[in-house]
Parts: sequence; structure tokens; C-alpha cells
Amino acid sequence: MNETSEIHKGLNGVVADVTAVSKVNPETNSLLYRGYPVPELAATQPFEAVAHLLWTGELPTAEELTEVARHERSHRALSAEVKAAMDSLPAECHPMDAVRTAVSVIGAMDPTAKDSSPNAELEKARRLFAQLPAVVAYEQRRRRAGGPTESIPARDDLDYSRNFLWMTFGQEASDEVVEAFRVSMVLYAEHSFNASTFTARVITSTLSDLHSAVTGAIGALKGALHGGANEAVMHTFEEIGIRPEESEEEAHARAKAWMDDALAQKKKIMGFGHRVYKHGDSRVPTMKEAMDAMIAHVGRSEILGLYNGLEQSMDEAKGIKPNLDYPAGPTYHLMGFDTEMFTPLFIAARVTGWTAHIMEQRAANALIRPLSQYDGPDERPVPAS
Ligand code: COA
Repeated sequence: MNETSEIHKGLNGVVADVTAVSKVNPETNSLLYRGYPVPELAATQPFEAVAHLLWTGELPTAEELTEVARHERSHRALSAEVKAAMDSLPAECHPMDAVRTAVSVIGAMDPTAKDSSPNAELEKARRLFAQLPAVVAYEQRRRRAGGPTESIPARDDLDYSRNFLWMTFGQEASDEVVEAFRVSMVLYAEHSFNASTFTARVITSTLSDLHSAVTGAIGALKGALHGGANEAVMHTFEEIGIRPEESEEEAHARAKAWMDDALAQKKKIMGFGHRVYKHGDSRVPTMKEAMDAMIAHVGRSEILGLYNGLEQSMDEAKGIKPNLDYPAGPTYHLMGFDTEMFTPLFIAARVTGWTAHIMEQRAANALIRPLSQYDGPDERPVPAS
């Protein structure tokens, strides 16, 4: 590297490789998974079908979908080893740490750990996809119980989303809740070379294994500039104050005042802005619809007041638009999840995209190893001791 090489801080604007998994078009605010517009997938497809699409490139036929669902249902159990590892952690540790640890244990127990052939990779991806809901659901229950507790066994008669909510809350969710949850999973599934996906690809590029790549990706997703933003959005709402008895207009006014003040102090507001989208995140309108339906379902219009108040004030002051985490946070809150559980839900969805990228990276691998420009001290002798 010579003195004049251009540095792309944050790899901003750098095209690192090709991918056939998804296409983000910031000009048209559109997102395609394997060529299909994501709002259309969110409107019509079970999450299991979207997972299959991301892994294989095609939506499943009816017969294939039956097989995908059968496989998913037969690998849902929380193993004794994973539960024991999670139970050994402090109840108050961040759930991202607990899920990261669980994935690491799942990897260590993997009977095919040394096999990275395409078929073995796909099978690992499918199993991990099926296992994560039990891990995330159990972590929510462990937190609530303040330590080790009973897990709720999966129910074979329920699909992915219904069963996820069943294992978390121990009661059947209403159709409205299931629908909003399914939509959030589809929207969170994949988003090209974002930080966590790139992390997974970097790890895979060293010829490391799928579970190591997913474990690293979870670490990247945890940060507030990435997946942690959905949790951070809710902390903003909490800081402003969630008052169910308040009218939409009152909440709107308080939120707007809070945002005006925060922007005057030059604060960065989580849930707004995006590295790729500069005119609005393509996924927000679909997630906002799901949030609106949840709000109508539970009768909590003050949440809409907070949402609109912050959005309006940010738009007027800086023209910065919300990203997917902004409507997703309040939606998960209204479903009854603890705020710290929001990013683990994102893991359960994004594991599909991560594993699709891991398989793609492995199929046409080159070690990812950029250069750096040195700006430390010039060469100097070590002082004599
Ligand atoms: N709140 C306040 N100002 C913001 C902002 C936010 N959420 N996002 C961007 N800006 C401002 C920056 O302060 C900067 O202003 P300046 O030019 O006056 O310094 C300008 O917009 C450009 O922002 P920058 O951080 O350089 O853009 P980026 O492409 O590097 O960052 C994010 C993208 C996502 C990291 C950034 O928007 C952010 O931190 N958002 C909040 C975290 C979040 O929601 N992450 C989830 C992403 S899906």
C-alpha cells in the first residue's frame, strides 16, 4: 500500500464481492430477496418459505414447503446441554450474550462439525434456524424467572411463528400478533453486506465453520449501530415515558419536544438513518403497517403518538428517515417481549440470511484480508535496559 492509497473508512462505498442473495437499491428504496420484492414476500409467504428461498434461491413448491416445515418442527427442541449452558449464565446478563453462547454450544455439539460440504452446510443452517426459537424463548423465560426455569416444549401442530410465541409466553397468540411477528421475521431475514453478514463472511473466508461464523455475526449484531438499535429505540420510548392512559396527541407532543431537545444537544437517535438508504428504508412501510395493526389490536394509541412525534420532529429538523428497527421495537414491546429480547429476535430471523451468505462465501471463497495504512511512530530502536 503506498502513501496515496485511498482509505475507505468504515468500508463506506466499497463493493467487497458479488452476491445473489439479496439486492438493495437505495435509489428506488427497494429490497429484493433472490429477485422477489420483500414487501410481496411479507404479504404472502410463511417465514419457513422465505428461509428456503434465501438458502436455495427459489421459493418452495407446496411439497417442498411441507418438507421444510416437517424438518423445522422436528428440530425445535432445546437440548439439555444448551439449556445447562444458558442456566450457568447470570440471569441478568444481556440476552445477546446468552444466545451467542447457546449457538457456540450448538456448534460444539454438532455431529457434523468437520463437514463443510454444501449439503452439510445447508443441513446445519436448517437445524440452527429450527433451534433458535427455543433458545430465544427460553432466554426470555429465564430472565423473567430470575434464573433457571422450565422451558415450554414446542408444539408440532403450530407453525414457526405461532410456536415461537407459544414457547415464549406459554399461551397461544392471537392471529394479529402472529401476523405482525411473521412480517417482522421476513423483513429482518436478510439485507446484503450489512456488518453482521460481512462478519459471518469474513469468518467463513478463513475456512472456519458455520457456527463460528454465526457466533461472530451475533457479536456484530449486538451493537447499537446495527441490530441493537431496535432495543435502543424502546429505551428512547421508555426515557420519554410510556403512559398507556395518555392520548395519542399528548404522547405526540411530548415525543416531539423530547426529540427537539435531543437534536439540539446533537444526540444520535437510534432507529433513524441508514448507511445505504438515504431516502428511507424500504422495509419501514411494511413494518409500520404491522405495528399499526398491533396498536389497533391492543388499543395503545399513545405508542403511535410517541412514534409519530419522534419521526415528525426528526424529519423536520434533519430529514433523516426511520430504519426498520424503529417500527420493529414498539411492535415487539406490544407483543410482550422484554426490551433486551428484541435483538435476539432479530438473530432468529437473520440467521437465514447469514447462513445463505456463509454458503455463498464458501462456494466461491477468497480470504477477506484488507490492508491498512500505518500512521504510528517511525522505526526506532528499543531503549537499552
Ligand atoms: N440521529 C441523529 N443524527 C444522525 C443519525 C441519527 N440516528 N443518523 C445520521 N445522523 C447524522 C449524522 O450525525 C451525520 O451528521 P453530520 O454530517 O452533521 O455529522 C449525518 O447524519 C450522516 O451520518 P453518518 O453517521 O455519517 O451516516 P452513516 O452512514 O455512517 O451511519 C448509521 C449510518 C446507521 C450508523 C447512523 O444513521 C446511525 O448511527 N443511526 C442510529 C443507529 C441505528 O438506528 N442503527 C440501525 C441501522 S439499520
